[in-house]
Amino acid sequence: MSRPYYITTAIHYPNGRPHIGHAYEMIAADAIARFQRQQGRDVRFQTGTDEHGLKMVKTARDRGVEVRALADEMSGYFHEMADKLDISCDRFIRTVEPDHYAASQAIWKAMEANGDLYLDRYEGWYSVRDEAFYEEKELVEGEGGEKLSPQGTPVEWTAEETWFFRLSKYQQPLLDLFASQPDFIRPESRRNEILRFVEGGLTDLSVSRTSFDWGVPVPGSPGHVMYVWVDALTNYITGVGYPDDSAMFDKYWPADLHLIGKDIVRFHTVYWPAFLMSAKLPLPKQVFGHGFLLNRGEKMSKSVGNVVDPMELAELYGVDALRYFLLRDVSFGNDGTFSDEAIVTRANADLSNSFGNLAQRVCAFIAKNLEGKVEAGRADTADDALIADVDAACDGFAKAFEELALSQGIESWMTGVFACNAFIDVQAPWALRKTDPERMHAVLGTLLKAIHRLAVTIEPVVPGSSAKLIAQLGHDAATGAFNIAAPSPIFPRLELQQSEEA
Ligand code: MSP
Repeated sequence: MSRPYYITTAIHYPNGRPHIGHAYEMIAADAIARFQRQQGRDVRFQTGTDEHGLKMVKTARDRGVEVRALADEMSGYFHEMADKLDISCDRFIRTVEPDHYAASQAIWKAMEANGDLYLDRYEGWYSVRDEAFYEEKELVEGEGGEKLSPQGTPVEWTAEETWFFRLSKYQQPLLDLFASQPDFIRPESRRNEILRFVEGGLTDLSVSRTSFDWGVPVPGSPGHVMYVWVDALTNYITGVGYPDDSAMFDKYWPADLHLIGKDIVRFHTVYWPAFLMSAKLPLPKQVFGHGFLLNRGEKMSKSVGNVVDPMELAELYGVDALRYFLLRDVSFGNDGTFSDEAIVTRANADLSNSFGNLAQRVCAFIAKNLEGKVEAGRADTADDALIADVDAACDGFAKAFEELALSQGIESWMTGVFACNAFIDVQAPWALRKTDPERMHAVLGTLLKAIHRLAVTIEPVVPGSSAKLIAQLGHDAATGAFNIAAPSPIFPRLELQQSEEA
């Protein structure tokens, strides 16, 4: 039986439509999930929406709609985006779903049974935008002298009766975890940040709210709903059957990878493992905090008006061009910048001019002149050398993807494409048709084998196009023969359009 692999994205706040940052995270997770499936792992992949909390309540109030109606509408757009972008998730979870209420209440009771929850009064700063509590010493001053969170978001003074979680008790266990599992937090820069934060001391965390009721009710405590991050983080175990389906839970939990953005690493590497320790549940194996996507180097925000709709980009340039660009041009873990020009330039250079053109030329020639089939021919050492180069390129892809070095993996794959193009230049198969057909058949056969391996390897990045190309090659796995259909271009040359900024 194949080993399970459980990967999750953050669940997104549906307080507005999805933007390209949300798309980026789903695409990266999808590429990893698809890659792991190719490796024969039994993959479970979850994404979804995080629908409770004050931010949702306030957005709904501002728009004059019911909060549930807002959640339903916006969550629908996230789901639609996942479909459009070929996100192969096994579950799109919504935190308003009944099994999620049950899981949240079950983990709450487990933490309570462990003596980690107590009732008290919270007074302090809260950022609705971050859904986070901050200590006075963490705040920074805004341009007008106002207090801001370390993330630069507005904070408001909050005073209410709440349940507290004994986070302070977990300072040492967390430090022990970071020491014994050095790759629990990746990349290294985020790990150092969190280490410093935890070493600085942890204060108990307010984990319920009484000033509004849009959340999961705290069991046995009328008037209290759970702090949104308690229920949000719990989604990861809801999705694998906690607490009732122990067969599924034991199979997929602990998760292999929580893929999230760098702004929410603290919640995932401090609060979440502490909650799990308290509930006596196993800890995820790894949390990876990817960087932020910037629009021409600028942070995207509604007030600047430079937020980009991923569906529009996919519409203009194609889903796979967008996926390829994001995974190839952003060094995974770092911030990355995008623009229409950069997407078009990258997709044309790699997909259209190099890989697409290679496949198109070879397939068109075989379909037109050889009725779609090549014969055994006369092989020589150049053929073995090309296959060795392509194998090395594809193995490099796999090794890099295993380590989440996604852009390096694609770079390695491209060296295989370049090797094929160089092989064509040297072997000149079109000219051999008249002079040495036996050699021509061998050259083309070698190229088909190479193109097939390249197409299979790049599937996690450009699934739709890869599937089309593989179908076109008509590869028979049993005999290894190809039966080439008249090709239609799979990676059309893109023209620069101008996407609109919302
Ligand atoms: N709801 C919380 C997460 C709860 S997880 C238990 C949240 N939601 S969010 O909608 O604000 O962000 C969802 C994910 O998108 C986060 O991982 C966040 O880092 C990521 N991104 C948001 N803006 C982004 C960019 N501009 N670029 C890349 N990723 C970004 O936080």
